[in-house]
Amino acid sequence: MAVTSPPKLDARKLRADFPIFKQQIHGKPLAYLDSAVSTHKPRQVLEKLKDFYETSYANVHRGVYTLSERSTAEYEGARQKLAQFVNAPSDREIVFVRGATEGLNLVAYAWGLVNLGPGDVVVVTELEHHSNFVPWQYIAGRTGATLKMIELDDNGELDLSALDSIAREGRVKVVANNLVSNALGTINPIEKLSAWAHEQGAIMVVDAAQAAPHHEIDVQQLDCDFLAFSSHKMCGPTSVGALWGRAELLESMAPFNLGGHMIRSVRLEETTWGDLPYKFEAGTQPIAEAVGFGAAMDYVNEVGLEAIEQYESELVAYTLDRFAELGGITSYGPPPERRAGIVSFNVEGIHPHDVAQVLDSEGVAIRAGHHCCQPLMTRLGVAATNRASYYLYSVPDEIDRLIEGLHKVRKILG
Ligand SMILES: Cc1ncc(COP(=O)(O)O)c(C=O)c1O
Repeated sequence: MAVTSPPKLDARKLRADFPIFKQQIHGKPLAYLDSAVSTHKPRQVLEKLKDFYETSYANVHRGVYTLSERSTAEYEGARQKLAQFVNAPSDREIVFVRGATEGLNLVAYAWGLVNLGPGDVVVVTELEHHSNFVPWQYIAGRTGATLKMIELDDNGELDLSALDSIAREGRVKVVANNLVSNALGTINPIEKLSAWAHEQGAIMVVDAAQAAPHHEIDVQQLDCDFLAFSSHKMCGPTSVGALWGRAELLESMAPFNLGGHMIRSVRLEETTWGDLPYKFEAGTQPIAEAVGFGAAMDYVNEVGLEAIEQYESELVAYTLDRFAELGGITSYGPPPERRAGIVSFNVEGIHPHDVAQVLDSEGVAIRAGHHCCQPLMTRLGVAATNRASYYLYSVPDEIDRLIEGLHKVRKILG
């Protein structure tokens, strides 16, 4: 067993908190190696949801009655936890959104449509998930701004030597980058990019969908302007996420969605907007989901992000060692110490979808596809990869099962 230094995190113990692992898939215990796409939920979060619906649920900020006040307190309590989680200067800088995708679209539409125009440059990277690429491409197209891309070096890390030439293309107004790549696990140099973006007079938009579950986030240290992440990737419910934005920027922006709750006054002649963050929270919010997100924060905080990050890096190192023994595997991405718990790979001569299908018959769930990163796949010269991704409940036995499964893949398809 190559997982060497004693992990500070006891994944086997944590795993017992997750009811999903009680079942068998095709008669075999579930080996779930697809946590980058979505994580499973511990009973602490599931119980919180049930308890909230059973004892405290009502619409928020609507009623003066006890239940509505109780519900509002839980909902706003979750916002406070999120603010602390990213070290936001103020709770009102946290906007509940449906997920990272909606948060990034909110910035692209509400900030980009108004502030971009011909001669402006929007910078994305070759590593972006489509959620932080396509909205910027679309808004750049609509406003006449130019879209530029920071490319990768052969390690799967951003090649920042191109920044000067990008700056010569026009006025850089937006730099958009993920803190952790969902396809390669690369941890990106956001602080450097923020500094460069601000030198250019640009805003720094961070997609933290893959970072927040695994990596401590401090928006003040990153010195970014917006940062988005999703609950479902960190033990919380689906359909809720958070966008953090600098108060002065959020205040300067028009709303993204319009309707109930986000207004101050409505007249035939004019409608005025509510205060932050409500200006961006039109309509009935994912209330119970937000409360469940708060419970997920508690769970992840209790385990500790440092322990999660260190443990995942050991799992990545172990996987790469086992791949080296197996041979015939091409893996992508930086060394384990510079990436999160994600391993993208291809089995020589076998299509990723076929690999994933045979593994499923062994109860091993991995992802096969372009991972919503088609520009990256183009750069790697492949249509798709397989991806194994880990979280705090992943155990080395699951990686052993992956390797055994890959032997079987070779036997059947090789
Ligand atoms: C890096 C990254 N950004 C954004 C997203 C989009 O997140 P969501 O689907 O929760 O909005 C994902 C989801 O896979 C992701 O991995």
